[in-house]
Amino acid sequence: MLGRVNHVAIAVPDLVSATESYRTTLGATVTEPQALPEHGVTVVFVALPNTKIELLEPLGDTSPIAAFLAKNPSGGMHHICYEVEDILAARDTLKASGARVLGDGEPKIGAHGKPVLFLHPKDFQGTLVELEQV
Ligand code: CO
Repeated sequence: MLGRVNHVAIAVPDLVSATESYRTTLGATVTEPQALPEHGVTVVFVALPNTKIELLEPLGDTSPIAAFLAKNPSGGMHHICYEVEDILAARDTLKASGARVLGDGEPKIGAHGKPVLFLHPKDFQGTLVELEQV
């Protein structure tokens, strides 16, 4: 079912400062900020030779990462995103095996313009898993 790691996401309290750390201290290429109101976050991507790092900052009062940042005020690893070929087939297989899909269970369009779903961290070793159809 799983393909490549598409990205690892890190929640940050200050996207400007996090972008500066990756650009200047680590010498990486970082994209311009992209607001995703439907997901309650603003994101940038750090381009690496083998994958990407997504830096997430809360957007709006009901951001799903607000509680995470309240527990991890300096930021922290938030989720890992795996690529799948067919997100609906993957969802149906996972649900049939008892895994919980977050939200209403319907894919939303993610930061790359492709459908994404999130799986409950308690079903996957305490890690929030994002699936992205590629
Ligand atoms: Co992500």
